[in-house]
Amino acid sequence: MRQSSLVVVANRLPLDDSAAPDGACEWRRSPGGLASALHAILQQTPATWVGWGGGIGAAPALPDIGSLRLRPVALSEKEVRGYYEGFANSTLWPLYHDAVEQPVFDRGWWETYRDTNRRFAEAAAEVVEPGGAVWVQDYHLQLVPDLLRELRPDVLIGFFLHVPFPPPELFMQLPRRSELLRGMLGADLVGFQRPQAAHNVAQLAVKLLGAQVTANDQITLDGRTVRTGAFPVSIDVAEMQALAARPDVRDHAQQLRADLGRPRRVLLSVDRLDYTKGIEHRLTAYSELLRDGRVKVRDTVMVQVAVPSRERVDSYRVLRDRIEGEVGRINGEYGRVGETAIHYLNQPFDRADLAALYQTADVMVVTPLRDGMNLVAKEYVAARADASGALVLSEFAGAAAEFEDAFLVNPHDVDGLKDTLLLAMEADPANLARRMAAMRDHLTRHDIVAWARAYLTALDGTGRVAAGLRR
Ligand code: ADP
Ligand code: G6P
Repeated sequence: MRQSSLVVVANRLPLDDSAAPDGACEWRRSPGGLASALHAILQQTPATWVGWGGGIGAAPALPDIGSLRLRPVALSEKEVRGYYEGFANSTLWPLYHDAVEQPVFDRGWWETYRDTNRRFAEAAAEVVEPGGAVWVQDYHLQLVPDLLRELRPDVLIGFFLHVPFPPPELFMQLPRRSELLRGMLGADLVGFQRPQAAHNVAQLAVKLLGAQVTANDQITLDGRTVRTGAFPVSIDVAEMQALAARPDVRDHAQQLRADLGRPRRVLLSVDRLDYTKGIEHRLTAYSELLRDGRVKVRDTVMVQVAVPSRERVDSYRVLRDRIEGEVGRINGEYGRVGETAIHYLNQPFDRADLAALYQTADVMVVTPLRDGMNLVAKEYVAARADASGALVLSEFAGAAAEFEDAFLVNPHDVDGLKDTLLLAMEADPANLARRMAAMRDHLTRHDIVAWARAYLTALDGTGRVAAGLRR
């Protein structure tokens, strides 16, 4: 088994196996923020990515991506049900997103979650060089740091949570709260999107595990110090800028606008089809604007891209039905022949097509009820080379802390959402240009490479691990 000095462990590999049109197996970049972010930095880095390929049963051999090796972890039907769809996505995901959907506490899932975490830890332990670094990602693998420390006490262990960490009173609802916390604190450095998450974890470590904490949330537990900190994740800004500058992408954007009937304004949303994304609140706001006559289908078009996600989990199936019913109702009520109120696209797009969509959008509407970061907001800003366009952004997305110049909105307040949408639609170009320039300036200084460098430098304290990164 070849070993790497840097190993990333994430539930999902950056590639999904999907059927090509001829029925053969085809590898496609997985949608979702974690895969987008890490794929961007690791594709040229000598490293190994340990993760799941998205299927059930034995994993097929996977091609390397440049100098990045992929080490698949095969999941059985039971593991997919209990670990991925169950504990990770029906218990932790809703709880960590402010319980906007009721978390399910099923006692049967815990053991599968723990055993599957052990399998990921074992896979990482096999492929990391002596004295190397392992960077564990996200809520699926919260027990891996501690399990890995037992197997490989010689390696540096990092953990990064891409989603929000909930307020202590919500975390306290979890039946296995102490084990989950201890699992994560097996790392040398625990990173979050926002500083508040580190405060929450420190507070819980005192309360549940009797740890000692310092004013800057460093945690001492069992004689070992665990550092914590905020490292807001970002995107490959250079990649999105290069795509947006390509003549074929610009032509495609023009063509899209023509295909939409050359409306005065195009509103765009791009989400995984997830209840945290606030799609229903947004549809309600838009439909009321149409009802009140404040927006006319004649001159405004909304495009909602909603890529299906976690489709075997009940709450996602129910959500999809509700959203599709609502889009149908709005189109039936407010559309005209040749004038569709909402264009609803349920498909995955490649990066160039997304860049063209972003260029077509006068107003990008990103209104999650809760989101760790939201990379779509950052991709939109990166794609607006001429500094035009308005970003309507939820206060409850991590990105809001960095984009103060967006049109910030509370998505739960439908009246406020309607007013903000109109404000963004009617804003004068100079105002928009000033806002967009400020956001672009921030983004170019805080891209994905800066994120990985900051995290890995904090992890090893020397810059040795970060030195292997591309660029
Ligand atoms: P999340 O991680 O919750 O899905 P983010 O907004 O942080 O939310 O990240 C979503 C990522 O998935 C972005 O990089 C976005 O470009 C990508 N994505 C979203 N929708 C699609 C789609 N229809 N096709 C391809 N990629 C998509
Ligand atoms: C979020 C999570 C990621 C996850 C992604 C897509 O970004 O933080 O860990 O990979 O959603 O979800 P999926 O369940 O398809 O992997």
